[in-house]
Amino acid sequence: MRDIENSDDIKLMVDTFYAKIQQDALLGPVFAERIAPDAWTPHLETMYRFWGSQLLGTQQYQGAPYAKHRTLPVHAEHFDRWLQLFDATVDELFKGPRASTAKVKAASIGKIFLSKMMFERGLSGKI
Ligand code: HEM
Repeated sequence: MRDIENSDDIKLMVDTFYAKIQQDALLGPVFAERIAPDAWTPHLETMYRFWGSQLLGTQQYQGAPYAKHRTLPVHAEHFDRWLQLFDATVDELFKGPRASTAKVKAASIGKIFLSKMMFERGLSGKI
């Protein structure tokens, strides 16, 4: 098995991951609530840019992703499931330093999102 090397690899990883997400009983409905069926193409394109920037240094993604997650109805279990599906996707397709980096980055960004959510919900008394 080979490593993530180019934009086709990023596309394959992202497409495979979100196909799993959409079929997942826990996460599918959370995404369906935010992303209309005809809005998946732009979402996937954003994610190609995000992961291209993270793994290939393409600098194509200039967003501030936490803002899009702040009000999602999710908890630690959703992040655990998200990461399980992400790791399973990477492991079934690739092996190597970039594949490992993808999993490490996903886990650490997920931890940051979750801790920001916990902090903000604590401040607003919603925990
Ligand atoms: C429970 C876990 C997660 C859920 C339910 C979730 C859900 C979503 C949804 C629904 C959107 C689309 C928002 C919109 O356009 O209105 C989105 C966007 C995005 N997500 Fe997540 N996400 C999760 C975790 C993560 C993690 C761990 C990462 C990073 C590794 C991530 C990176 C992104 C990025 C980069 C975008 C695009 C933001 C933009 O438009 O600039 N997400 N996510």
